[in-house]
Parts: sequence; structure tokens; C-alpha cells
Amino acid sequence: MWFDKRPLVAIAPMEGITDKAYRTLVRRITPEVILFTEFVNASGLLHGAKRVWTMAEFTDDERPIVVQLYDHDPEKIGLATREIAKRLHPDGIDLNMGCPVRKVVARGAGCAMMADISRSAESVRRMVTEAGSIPVSIKSRLGIADKREVVDFARACIEAGASQVSIHARLKDVRPRVPADWDALSYAARRLDTTVIGNGDVWSEEDALRMVALEGVDGVMIGRGGIGNPWLLKRIAQKLAGKAVDKHPSRETRARTAIEHLELNVKAKGERRGVLEMRKIVRHYIKGYNDSKRTWLKLIEVDSTADTIRVLEEFANKIPEEFQVS
Ligand SMILES: Cc1cc2nc3c(=O)[nH]c(=O)nc-3n(C[C@H](O)[C@H](O)[C@H](O)COP(=O)(O)O)c2cc1C
Repeated sequence: MWFDKRPLVAIAPMEGITDKAYRTLVRRITPEVILFTEFVNASGLLHGAKRVWTMAEFTDDERPIVVQLYDHDPEKIGLATREIAKRLHPDGIDLNMGCPVRKVVARGAGCAMMADISRSAESVRRMVTEAGSIPVSIKSRLGIADKREVVDFARACIEAGASQVSIHARLKDVRPRVPADWDALSYAARRLDTTVIGNGDVWSEEDALRMVALEGVDGVMIGRGGIGNPWLLKRIAQKLAGKAVDKHPSRETRARTAIEHLELNVKAKGERRGVLEMRKIVRHYIKGYNDSKRTWLKLIEVDSTADTIRVLEEFANKIPEEFQVS
């Protein structure tokens, strides 16, 4: 099973981020990590929406990969699991029970599932029936209002057949800027008789080491820290394996990888969407330098692949200011 791997390092599923382009890059840099797709709507899959299917599809070189679903209706979730298992046969199928976004919660999906344990357990039960040999997992938060809620909730899902649980260590309405509650994460993890992956505020390899040292936590899942920084996943995998950790990439490597990411995204989504979507991501690749902001301001003025590459090439070739002779 994918979650038997040690060290257990996964990218967090992120809509608009963990798409084909990003996963391809992460896999090239870090063969060790588990990949997750963006969350994919079960009803959309059942309607045969091409855009939704594209979010779920992957190639064999991305394995091990888990497809994440979301929806509110156990029957639809079960049927979508059947389709995913039959057509794509991923290494795992995960159910999102942690998304706090209003339009998702309003439909009874994401975090709203935590308010209805029996519907959640029934969804998992149907997934397990339909998934065949593919393991079913869940990803949730600590709770809606009480940070211990996840214990009973996850236990019901485990009883229904979930074989792994990822916990984002925040309550539903806690903003991402507020530190994740790792004590509450460990409290829950100690009480769950399954593989628990911790998630929330892993920004460095030291953070990852501290998270897996928490009692009950078996692995780490990295979200925002890996945006524009796929090397972080590699360093975390190395650190947790007790190996020497790679140096941080140079600005040239960062810029060249941003170009590669851009090209993959344009290939997958076409030039206009591919370029516009990448703006918010490229910003992370180039941050931390004196000219980062200046470069970003140039990037948001261009909308073609060629012009975006030109700006990034300039950034790549520029001698860092600390080495310039005045
Ligand atoms: C842009 C963005 C999109 C996200 N989309 C999803 C998603 O599709 N499914 C999911 O389970 N969580 C999603 N999340 C939550 C992350 O998986 C993760 O739980 C959260 O960012 C906390 O981890 P971090 O502190 O490492 O970023 C998303 C988060 C962000 C920032």
C-alpha cells in the first residue's frame, strides 16, 4: 500500500496547484514522495465532464498517486469511485472531508461531512466496496468547532473501511495564517488505530522531523511550503531518511524550473490559461531576492509564454546583487 512507505512524505492535494504540471515536476525532483491530485468532484466525473476527468487523470510515471474525490452524496461518491478504479486504477482513492470553502461546504461536501458522521461513514463504505483492491483513505480537519471531533469521526470512517487518515491540524474556520495545532494533531493520532499523516505548517525539513516525532503521527503532508519549491519535498524525504540534505537551489535553478513548470502548464492547459495561472505560482519560485518584486511586476504585465520566459531568463542570468561590483 502507498502509505506503508517510509519515510512517508506526501504532497497535500491542492486545487489549482497539484495538477499534472506540478506533479510532473515534483516527481522528477523527488521520486520518493506520494502524489495527490487536486480534489475532483464526484458528480462532475459521473456527468463525464472532460475538465473534471482531466483533473483526475495521471500517467504511470506519477505513481504512487492518490486521486482525491469530494462530494456530499454517498451514492455518487461510490459510483465515482467505481469509475476511477475501473478507468484509472490509482494507488489510492481519498475522500476530502476538510475543505472549508463556502461553495463546497454549502453543498454538504468537504468539511460539512464532519457534521454528519453516518453519511461520511456510508460514503467510505461505498467507496471501499467499489474500489476493489485499491485502498480508500480520508483527509479531514481537527473538527468543525472542537479540535477533538476528528477522533470519533475518523474512527467511524476507519470502521467503515478507510485504511489511512490524513489530518490537517486546524479547525474548519481557522485561517491558514493561524499556526496549525500540532498538539491536537498528536492527541487525535494517538487515538487512531491506523496510519496517520499529519498536515499543516510544514515549511522546512526541521518542521517535518518535528511532526513525525509527534506520538501517533506516521508521515507528513506538505501543502503551501511546496508551492514554487518542489525541492522542499526532496529535502524532507532526505532528512526523514537520515540522509544528507540537498542545498537550496540557486536562483538560476529556481528560474529555470519555473520556466519548465510554465511550459508543462501551457502544454496541459493552453497558452492563455497556462500563463495566467502560473503567475501566482511563479511568484513563489523567485521570492527572497532583492529583485523578486520587480521581476514579479514585470511578469504580471506579460501574457504570452515567450514573454514570461524572457522575464524569467533575465532573472536567471542576473548576477545576484551581493556579488555585483559597484
Ligand atoms: C490553494 C489551495 C488549494 C487546496 N485544495 C485542496 C484540495 O483540493 N483538497 C484538500 O484536501 N485540501 C486542499 N487544500 C488544503 C491543503 O491540502 C492543506 O491541508 C493545507 O494547505 C494545510 O497544509 P499546509 O500548511 O502544508 O499548506 C488546499 C490548500 C490550498 C492552499
